[in-house]
Amino acid sequence: MKIAIGSDHAALDLKSTIVEHLKESGIDVTDLGTHTADSCDYPDIAKLVCEKVAAGEYQYGILVCGTGIGMSIAANKVKGIRAALCHDTFSASMAKQHNNSNILCMGARVVGSGLALAIVDEWISQEFVGGRHAIRVEKLENI
Ligand code: RB5
Repeated sequence: MKIAIGSDHAALDLKSTIVEHLKESGIDVTDLGTHTADSCDYPDIAKLVCEKVAAGEYQYGILVCGTGIGMSIAANKVKGIRAALCHDTFSASMAKQHNNSNILCMGARVVGSGLALAIVDEWISQEFVGGRHAIRVEKLENI
């Protein structure tokens, strides 16, 4: 599994924590920035990560900013991206099972690192169940 991750300055520390955790879990993770604490614009990072996921270069992406809201809004503007903003493990599970999300968004000012890592683990471990949900996901692609 290849995962791309990105953050703005507000979630730099959470991104590093997630990267470390994924590497310890043996997952191939690429940090696409930002790499400094300087203020930057989350749409730029979201676009970078999402275009690579949409092109198939990475299977999944993780985007973190202060609230996760800006990243999720930006991510869902990229064709082929289904970004889910999750701050609990149940939503993370459903975002994969029912919505076949390929981008997970979180807010570093909303969740602590322990919960964030539990959300990441839950999201990664779940699979899309298909069936009636496949029809709905196809409709999403056609909007
Ligand atoms: C940056 O201050 C903040 O606006 C950003 O990280 C994010 O929360 C936007 O949705």
